[in-house]
Amino acid sequence: MTVHPPGEHLTGAARAADPAALERFFGAPDGVLPLWIAEPYVPLAPGVVAALQERAATGWYGYEVRPPSAAGAFWDWARRRHGWGPGGLQTTVSPSVGTSIGVLIDRLTDPGDGVILQPPVFTDFKPLVKAAGREVVRNPLVREGGRYRMDLGGLAAAAAGARTRMLILCNPHNPVGRVWSEAELRAAAEVCAEHDVMVLADEVHGDLALPPHRCTPFARAAAGTGARWAAVWGPIKTFGLAGVCDTLLITDDDALTATFREASGRFHLTRTNVFGVAALEAGYRTGGPWLDGLLDLVTANAALLRDGLPDGIGLVEPEGTYLAWLDFRDLGMDVPGLASWLGGAARLALSPGHWFGREGAGFARMTIAAPTDRIEEAVTRLRTAVGAR
Ligand SMILES: Cc1ncc(COP(=O)(O)O)c(C=O)c1O
Repeated sequence: MTVHPPGEHLTGAARAADPAALERFFGAPDGVLPLWIAEPYVPLAPGVVAALQERAATGWYGYEVRPPSAAGAFWDWARRRHGWGPGGLQTTVSPSVGTSIGVLIDRLTDPGDGVILQPPVFTDFKPLVKAAGREVVRNPLVREGGRYRMDLGGLAAAAAGARTRMLILCNPHNPVGRVWSEAELRAAAEVCAEHDVMVLADEVHGDLALPPHRCTPFARAAAGTGARWAAVWGPIKTFGLAGVCDTLLITDDDALTATFREASGRFHLTRTNVFGVAALEAGYRTGGPWLDGLLDLVTANAALLRDGLPDGIGLVEPEGTYLAWLDFRDLGMDVPGLASWLGGAARLALSPGHWFGREGAGFARMTIAAPTDRIEEAVTRLRTAVGAR
């Protein structure tokens, strides 16, 4: 197992530890341990770092078009890691997941239409829907025996709404860590096909399934269901490259691709960043062993939480993502009480669960792609704070 050493140059740590952000979100207690932003707090893949350094060393940062090899690098990776190939699919580069979602909401739905979200879920979805003047149609996840599942009956009811046009599905699901099974995804695809609701599958955590779990690309699960779908992939979470890299929009729908490419041309979303081009290919071509080490680290850190959390704090077993969803409800605190207890007594900056929707109240999300000693420290702080109550 590769265990990443604590390093001076922890990606994410700098921004996560930014005093202004800690002040704004956590009341700025001194010495809080920041584990709230979803990116790896470890040295990044050496091949990626080297490619970026080499690119910087050229001293040439003018226009660069995205080479066709970018999509090729992704598909070589997807074949190796997911047994998934590009046959019958179109792949388009997009500057970010948010860009793809924003464009597709804009072009495929009308103001006032409904877009289904399944909270608790990634914080950007709702603002993207609202900013477009569309309505959020809520289909909360259901918790059963400590595990989350999709509410397929609720999904059918939501999809049947006269103005419901789209589902944004998160696979694996940030923040609860579910890696949806092929059967679950297929069932969701069938429901959406029946009601002609398009599925936008955000699979940007798709490389982060924790063995033995495996991510099923929505494309595979939807095959033959008649569902209209697009999926978003990219190296941004996999390799900690959110600050530099492009992402990929994948679909089997020619008209959707044409629509996205028209918007992309019209708004110059085709403009790229020379470093993004270098990092994307280097990640997909050389980053496999580093990612395996990262997944080992996350698995080991999840075990630390499972074994070390004090009574009153539960771990929702992560199947994927490097995010741990912690259940504080037995401690009986309300939303402001939990937030101030985490920042104050426990001296931890975690993402409070209610950021992900009201169903997240009483929970908090901890990034566990971090050196093991940090997670040990977080467990110690939680034990001490619970003990002092
Ligand atoms: C599910 C999910 N989608 C998208 C993003 C962000 O993507 P982007 O920065 O490319 O919009 C994140 C970041 O945490 C995420 O968790």
